[in-house]
Amino acid sequence: MRDTKAGQGRLISADLGRRVLSFGNKRSHNMIFICALLALVACATGQAEVDFITLATVWPQSDCEVHKHDTCTIPASTNTFTLRGFWPDNFGGEYPVDCEGEEFDITQLQSLVPLLEQLWPNVLEDGTNEELWKEQWDRHGKCAVEAGLFTNQETYFSEALTQVVRYNAFQTFYYRFNVNCQYLSDPDRFVLSELQVCFNQTMSPIDCYIDGDHTSYHTHGCDVTGEVLYLPIQH
Ligand SMILES: *[C@@H]1O[C@H](CO)[C@@H](O)[C@H](O)[C@H]1NC(C)=O
Repeated sequence: MRDTKAGQGRLISADLGRRVLSFGNKRSHNMIFICALLALVACATGQAEVDFITLATVWPQSDCEVHKHDTCTIPASTNTFTLRGFWPDNFGGEYPVDCEGEEFDITQLQSLVPLLEQLWPNVLEDGTNEELWKEQWDRHGKCAVEAGLFTNQETYFSEALTQVVRYNAFQTFYYRFNVNCQYLSDPDRFVLSELQVCFNQTMSPIDCYIDGDHTSYHTHGCDVTGEVLYLPIQH
């Protein structure tokens, strides 16, 4: 079924990018506390430390358009930004991946599966949902646990779901978030692809900076002089 509900897809101008990018005026002094806490965590565990965690959300229709050669299926229940990942991160850009940890075990996630299917679907036919969740757990989730942010895979996945429900897309305007676009050549246009929200150690949203001085941030691929399309979702 093609769902092209009027109003769901709409044009947003480059103003979005500019507004987003100007949200950095709000200065925060949280870093001192984060660093103090990190020192404790590092002392206690001797393990990987991270400055914050990024919730990467993706506009699923953009994935479909970008990978036109693949079959793309957006679940009927999915009408929002979905999860790309929940990634431990550091100011300065070096982030831990592929840590040691407990093996992915879907039986520990049974109560979360319906929401995971809706909010963390693998829309491309290149693998199953479970393969995607396992890959994300192996690459990022284990490091989030090693850094002391979560106790196990159940709390990691359930926190990702909680935050994507709470901060889906434009509810995040108060904080500076990362915006990524994709360029499509046929027809020639930019589409909104990802929004990323950042959280501190206690899962409060913080401005997404990539350095401790709060002067640098990521934005990728958006044409800030032209329009950026926000595509209607097609099921
Ligand atoms: C996270 O941010 C919240 C809200 O700004 C703050 O109250 C809390 O102390 C912060 N936690 C850490 C570990 O910095």
